[in-house]
Amino acid sequence: MNYLLGLDIGTSAVKALLLSTDGDVVGSFTTEYPFFTPRPGWSEQNPEDMWQATTAAIKGVLAKFDVTGESILGIGLSGQMHSSVFLDDQCEVIRPAILWNDVRTSAECRYIEEKVGRQVLLEEVCNPVLEGFTLPKLVWLRNHEPENFAKVRYLVLPKDYVRYRLTGNLQMEVSDAAGMVMMNVRQQVWSEPVLGALDLSSEILPPIVQSGEVVGTIRSDVAEATGLKEGTPVVGGGADNACGAIGSGVVKPGRGMVSLGTSGVLLAHLAEPKLITHGTVHMFNSCIPNQFYMMGVVLSAGLSLSWVRKQLGLESESYDELTKRAAAVPPGSRGLVYLPYLTGERTPHGDANARGTFVGLSATHGPDEIIRSVLEGIAFALCDSVELLRSAGWEGTALRALGGGAKSDLWKEIIASATGLSLEEINVDEGPGLGAAILAGVGAGVYKDIGEASDSIISVTRVVEPNPAWRETYQELYGVYKDLYPALKGSFDRLVAFS
Ligand code: XUL
Repeated sequence: MNYLLGLDIGTSAVKALLLSTDGDVVGSFTTEYPFFTPRPGWSEQNPEDMWQATTAAIKGVLAKFDVTGESILGIGLSGQMHSSVFLDDQCEVIRPAILWNDVRTSAECRYIEEKVGRQVLLEEVCNPVLEGFTLPKLVWLRNHEPENFAKVRYLVLPKDYVRYRLTGNLQMEVSDAAGMVMMNVRQQVWSEPVLGALDLSSEILPPIVQSGEVVGTIRSDVAEATGLKEGTPVVGGGADNACGAIGSGVVKPGRGMVSLGTSGVLLAHLAEPKLITHGTVHMFNSCIPNQFYMMGVVLSAGLSLSWVRKQLGLESESYDELTKRAAAVPPGSRGLVYLPYLTGERTPHGDANARGTFVGLSATHGPDEIIRSVLEGIAFALCDSVELLRSAGWEGTALRALGGGAKSDLWKEIIASATGLSLEEINVDEGPGLGAAILAGVGAGVYKDIGEASDSIISVTRVVEPNPAWRETYQELYGVYKDLYPALKGSFDRLVAFS
């Protein structure tokens, strides 16, 4: 039996996934690593930790399933988007990576918008500049750590860094390059109009490669350290959300997905690029050549749930037990509404100062109401993204549900009822790692087409429909939810001084 290996370089762990060339997911092995919050709003990680975790996960998955390096026909990588890995002229890491959920760059975003201009940004990179994206991190480095900026020879993203360590070749894969907001999304070249306006050189950006293209092979020292075979082909891979789409069959216009991980993502596949003028809907390149996707991002989805579990002292309870508590509370959480802005918000507000809020707390509320209101608040945040995707022309009626949060039937029913969309369960919920393995299969010649391969492996197994009674409650409550951010915006801004 032969296999394909997908490596997902996530925010908290590396997951190595084995897909047999027959299209069966054999299983995966996960190695965790930490991220650091040196100051409020900052989020950093050591690229060396990502690399060490990658080698451990590769060794782990080969041993766990008793698979030899010789039987791996190809390797693909997916990774957390936007997070900056700064390298010097020896390709050594200069400082910890600044992650996608770090919001230190508000001033840089405003500066970039002023220097480049909103229209040029929309036409060139098809996106606004938001705190989490990579370009403002580079400008932040120039403003705040000039000694480090002077050392920067290359800027890459986590999975492209790990691929460099595997193969010795430094490249930027196209779906992730889009999230740096330094690339012309339509033409897939580094954007001279954007970089030039900021006195930045495209020389620090490696060549752009395609997702399913073989762009290197496993080095001999890596083979020795991991058990892989020297010379095994490695493909470009893709951004985690782009790979999540491939790994859930979201490969045609009209299809969409909701991913419930640390962040919550609502993504719709597009055959053509769109000029989206609402500043917080992202539009990036798909892993399928010359196709695209648009998405809204809720920064603290799963993060809200893990935060509340910890703060309520319920860490001994599983997520299953937590959602059982929430299921005992009626929809609407007895008048409690949660805004999930623990780390600011991307879509729809693009506001690093926004903060998490419970509105309507009463002495009768306890942990169960709080937990349900968190699940509902995230569903309302996703409703905001659905509205924006709709106004940009998305006509889908269903979302494929993936990620840890999608394991909860209750949460799926809440999201279906709040958004009015059907939530589809799929036969394999392995997300980005599976997408990366499929891309490896295309590069290795096992599959001839990314979309066809994804469609042949992934199918819908069950559909969770909106609950009509809940839908009514949620439509009314969503009205309340939508009024809260504008009412609180001024207070959020004033609270920054106290944080
Ligand atoms: C997408 C984003 C997150 C990360 C999570 O724009 O920032 O979904 O990709 O890894």
